[in-house]
Amino acid sequence: MPHIKLFIPGPVEISDSVRKAFGGPMIGHRGKGFQDLYARVQPGLRKLFQTQQPVFLGTGSAWSVMEASLRNLVQKKVLVCMNGAFSDKWFDVAQKCGKQAGKVQVEWGQAIKPEAIDRELAQGGYDALTLIHHETSTGVLSPLPAIAKLVRSKYPDVLLIVDTVSSFSVLPIPFDELGLDVMLCGTQKALALPPGAALFSVSERAYQRAEKINDRGYYYDFLEFRKQAESNMTPCTPSISHLYALEVKLAEIEKEGITKRHERHRKNAERGRAWLQVNGFEVFPEKGYESLSLTCGKNTQGIDVAKWIAWLKENHGAIFDGGYGKLKGQTFRVSHMGDETEKGMEELWGRLSEGLKKIGSRPCG
Ligand SMILES: Cc1ncc(COP(=O)(O)O)c(C=O)c1O
Repeated sequence: MPHIKLFIPGPVEISDSVRKAFGGPMIGHRGKGFQDLYARVQPGLRKLFQTQQPVFLGTGSAWSVMEASLRNLVQKKVLVCMNGAFSDKWFDVAQKCGKQAGKVQVEWGQAIKPEAIDRELAQGGYDALTLIHHETSTGVLSPLPAIAKLVRSKYPDVLLIVDTVSSFSVLPIPFDELGLDVMLCGTQKALALPPGAALFSVSERAYQRAEKINDRGYYYDFLEFRKQAESNMTPCTPSISHLYALEVKLAEIEKEGITKRHERHRKNAERGRAWLQVNGFEVFPEKGYESLSLTCGKNTQGIDVAKWIAWLKENHGAIFDGGYGKLKGQTFRVSHMGDETEKGMEELWGRLSEGLKKIGSRPCG
């Protein structure tokens, strides 16, 4: 079957070098070869996380660490910031884990603002907060630095658990400087690695909390991760293939230069928004909080998005996304995460314009 190029918001395309590395020969996870590999990826990861803390590899997708953060760190009550499919679900997951949970909830497409968090935290009783930095379902980037500043200055006992699944490596997120307590990302989004693993880092403050919680579970006990990392190992048999691929990816990021990588994402996002405007669509996310990882358009022309995607697949062997969950058909999302170049995206925008004409819409550009 020919490969269909992915412009969906994850999994995204992986480079040939990453694919090759992923298929590398197996080694024992309790041997020196593994310990050396684990140690080799640490400096690059800590540089990207901007932290002095170890960065762990979790063998499980992002949700594994999202759930684990609740189990390891919530003793009293968690405030769940909800503005899209993934952040809404985090509330259900908290309840399924038997945790008390409160909400700051806004319409899909809106950002989470520090003022709303402040109002809720001021009620008292909370000891943790979950935030999705970039809500992939809507393309909204919430103002993490302002939120972190508020929580760290006014609510020192509230741990900040931040999902950077689709924003990590798209823009700088300085874990230590912002005073975050957990920062996690998956592998299949902006890092452009195969799915099935997650990376995360934990603050000293969070370890201290975890020490007081007995039912942290087994598979994702943060204290066990820390202990094993001291000898460059993981608690259980990890996805060694992901570590091989990660090592190659970190070298690719270093070669491109992290600032240039951020700049490339910013330019692709700006170009995406300009394309929407020229073609008569609105930008779905709230103004000022637009994604840098993907372009989320509002289907203001009422076109048949499924037909448009089918046209692109049939004629150019590529797909994008036709709206998440309740936004299906009302929005569409074109990802430019990972390795997508300005040139490659330019080609895609041209094809999307062509597709609009072919399916009989009234585009202008
Ligand atoms: C922001 C965000 N958080 C969490 C998840 C869940 O990731 P996974 O399915 O890899 O566990 C996703 C998946 O798209 C996401 O976009």
